[in-house]
Amino acid sequence: MTTLRESLLPAGTPRVAPHEGSRRRLDAVHDTSVTVPLLILGTRTLAVEICDWVEDIPGVRVVGFVENMDRSHCAQPLEDRPVFWIDELPDRATGCYAIAGLATTHRRIFVQQAAERGVRFTTVVHPMARISKKARLGEGCLAAPAVLVGSHAEIGRHVLLNRAAMVGHHTRIGDFVTLQPQANVAGCCSIGEGTYVGMGALILDHLNIGAHSVIGAGAVVTRDVPDHVQVMGVPARIVKENIDGK
Ligand SMILES: CC(C)(COP(=O)(O)OP(=O)(O)OC[C@H]1O[C@@H](n2cnc3c(N)ncnc32)[C@H](O)[C@@H]1OP(=O)(O)O)[C@@H](O)C(=O)NCCC(=O)NCCS
Repeated sequence: MTTLRESLLPAGTPRVAPHEGSRRRLDAVHDTSVTVPLLILGTRTLAVEICDWVEDIPGVRVVGFVENMDRSHCAQPLEDRPVFWIDELPDRATGCYAIAGLATTHRRIFVQQAAERGVRFTTVVHPMARISKKARLGEGCLAAPAVLVGSHAEIGRHVLLNRAAMVGHHTRIGDFVTLQPQANVAGCCSIGEGTYVGMGALILDHLNIGAHSVIGAGAVVTRDVPDHVQVMGVPARIVKENIDGK
């Protein structure tokens, strides 16, 4: 995978795996002599918020947004940037990096569409996030301001860690998971692919949360959660089955 850090290294510099953590990544992006062009998939309010976060990262510049559902969103600039229709990306877009700007766990579809059109994804870590040097962040992850990721945590691809989300040590998070603001996942947990964790939810340590499930905002999860269910409340109880993320 390619990270913003790697893309900023001068030619010939040995590349360093992304799990080496945010500090080294940030050292590199503080080299303001290089500008990395970044596309944000999505045109809704979270995409605008992400654009604002990225403006805090020296050496990275949002060059546009991408829309795949409502073509009318391409008619006007967004945050003074162009909005590209997914099937009409300019040639230069393939030289950009991208990040998904959608909270839905169904963003996999958009990510796949963009990847098929030659868009490359990177990992974006806000300067105010703290990612352990011993943690791994997969391609396409976004760590918002005040995010904390503990040592030996493994975060999959295209995971959204919204503001102040916390991931404990030795916890594994699957691809396309969303942790909404202040979601707090304790140490030694696992969360399956495509699960959505609402804001302020607490997941106690050593629990296994299934894939494509939803944890309601403010829930306190005290037991394992199976795949494809929605839980909410304190303690969290299953309220819906056969769901597919959110
Ligand atoms: C869990 C959630 C997905 C449920 O959505 P939903 O299935 O559409 O549920 P509804 O809104 O139809 O509400 C159904 C019932 O559950 C209650 N409810 C909804 N969310 C709840 C929650 N998180 N905890 C406890 N009860 C909740 C509602 O009050 C309603 O109760 P009622 O039938 O007595 O009136 C949603 O409420 C949630 O928590 N979303 C996360 C929001 C979030 O984190 N946003 C981040 C913004 S940055």
